[in-house]
Amino acid sequence: MKKDGLLEDIKSRIDIVDFISDYVQLKKSGQNWKGLCPFHQEKTPSFTVSQSKQIFHCFGCGAGGDVITFLLKHDSLSFHEALTILAQKVGIAIDAFKKDSKSIEKDELVRQGLQEAGRFFASNLKGSKNAEAYIKGRGVSLETIELFQIGFAPSGWSNLLNHMRKKGYSDTVIKDAGLAVSGNKGLYDMFRERIMFPIRSMNGHVIAFGGRAMDSSMPKYINSPETPVFKKSETLYGLHTGKNAIREKGYVLIVEGYMDVIICYQYGFRNVVAPLGTSLTPGHLQKLRKLTSEAVVVFDGDAAGISAAKRSLPLLCKNNFKARLLSLPEGEDPDSYLRKNGGEAFSALLGKTQSVIEFLFSASRGGRVETVREALTLIAQNADSLAADEMLIELSGKTRISETTVREEFKRMKNRTDAGERKAALPRVSRGDREEYLLLSAVIHFPDKLNYVLSRLDRKDIRDSAVLSLFEKIAAAQDRNNPGDILDGAGEEERVLFTRLSVEPGFDLEHADRNIEDCLRTIEKKKFDKKFRQAELSGDIQLFNALLLEKKKLLEGNKI
Ligand code: UTP
Ligand code: MN
Repeated sequence: MKKDGLLEDIKSRIDIVDFISDYVQLKKSGQNWKGLCPFHQEKTPSFTVSQSKQIFHCFGCGAGGDVITFLLKHDSLSFHEALTILAQKVGIAIDAFKKDSKSIEKDELVRQGLQEAGRFFASNLKGSKNAEAYIKGRGVSLETIELFQIGFAPSGWSNLLNHMRKKGYSDTVIKDAGLAVSGNKGLYDMFRERIMFPIRSMNGHVIAFGGRAMDSSMPKYINSPETPVFKKSETLYGLHTGKNAIREKGYVLIVEGYMDVIICYQYGFRNVVAPLGTSLTPGHLQKLRKLTSEAVVVFDGDAAGISAAKRSLPLLCKNNFKARLLSLPEGEDPDSYLRKNGGEAFSALLGKTQSVIEFLFSASRGGRVETVREALTLIAQNADSLAADEMLIELSGKTRISETTVREEFKRMKNRTDAGERKAALPRVSRGDREEYLLLSAVIHFPDKLNYVLSRLDRKDIRDSAVLSLFEKIAAAQDRNNPGDILDGAGEEERVLFTRLSVEPGFDLEHADRNIEDCLRTIEKKKFDKKFRQAELSGDIQLFNALLLEKKKLLEGNKI
């Protein structure tokens, strides 16, 4: 991406403030523009856009970057998709840059490779007796097999590998797609003798696989590793098959596993998805939000199931999801329940879901007061005050505690959480010294000053590793004015720090030189004082005297 002239070309024709204004209401605030962050729920604007730096940064959640980052994140697009949209916007022909950009081509090949592997697995299911018997034994109909494109990876170490090579895929692409792993004797198939569930993006592209063992061998499921096109924590199984039903019914059923999704669907409960063996994440909800903001969390009524359901609640509340809970008899998952009891019984359970408040009271082991507090803490997480209000009224009704008391207690609790959140949301600035951040900031805004600053700084004196690494990244960047160049390969911490300082320099830009000089001196002085204290402690009189002399000279020269 670094040397992609076209990417820069596109960016140079778009103004970030205009662009983001299509998504967020921005108001001018000092040098910057501010609005409500689209990436987390907030009531006061901490989402900040800098026109001069062409960068956004949210002081609440730390999201930040350039127009591309914004579009990628906002619409959950692939890099290729985001570029295509932007290119169209500024009227650049797509074909022109398709050939131009190696990384895009590679992602595209990975996608195609996954699609091909899916076809290979699907064709292997037919005719493999054991696999067919297994899937039939689990009650999956032919129609469902087709719909979910269920397949089979035969035993052996290189069935898929050979097939892919024959189709012209390079080993690099096969490996990048997570289809093969390297061993002593070279590449071998990642999935062997497993029922294969293709995991698809919302628009139906195969992006990964889950493979189930047909006996009790462990692990029960193997999932594709993360690849350029697959992020586990943002992927839901069933999103493609379920999206229309989710829209139509107005809510989503969240279950636990692959087979739960498949069997629910087969029994007519098509609005169903499952995370891939992880708990729910904000990324999952962001995907769902495009379809609905109501969820029914289905869980196994045993202790583990209850506590998993409980853990998902704060996240749902925070993200403005209206949640209800469906409890299954102990030891059952939707798959086993449906096959034992049928669709009508499941419908009946769906008619008896619990609200979050009801669930808390039925699931709580603690006393009543404790549960009330638990409920209030949860209600305080709601980003939407109307939703919170509804829950408060319900809580008062349920407990027969007067609404006034409930509200008073709620207010107190909310103040505490809000304060806590403000603290947590602030990027940490304590690890390094303030001067380090200001110097870095000066260099971000005036890259010309970098050489001078570095000439006066000893790298080992920089305490915050993110600051040091950013200095190095700016020094190494081809174009020091180009955030994309600098942040290429940067970690999360570096990115947050960079975008934050870009929109909030922390000093008056008109007095950059003064600021740089002050910071450098303070750092030098601190360093000197430290040496001084050490000499004092060690009782090294000679060193101490030498330092004293040095200090005197420095003071005379007015350097410290
Ligand atoms: P479960 O262990 O509950 O399995 O894992 P399951 O869905 O009921 O599977 P069946 O019915 O025995 O076939 C729930 C989900 O957790 C993930 C899978 O997504 C699974 O569907 N998981 C589980 C893994 O990713 N790896 C594992 O080893 C186990
Ligand atoms: Mn199961």
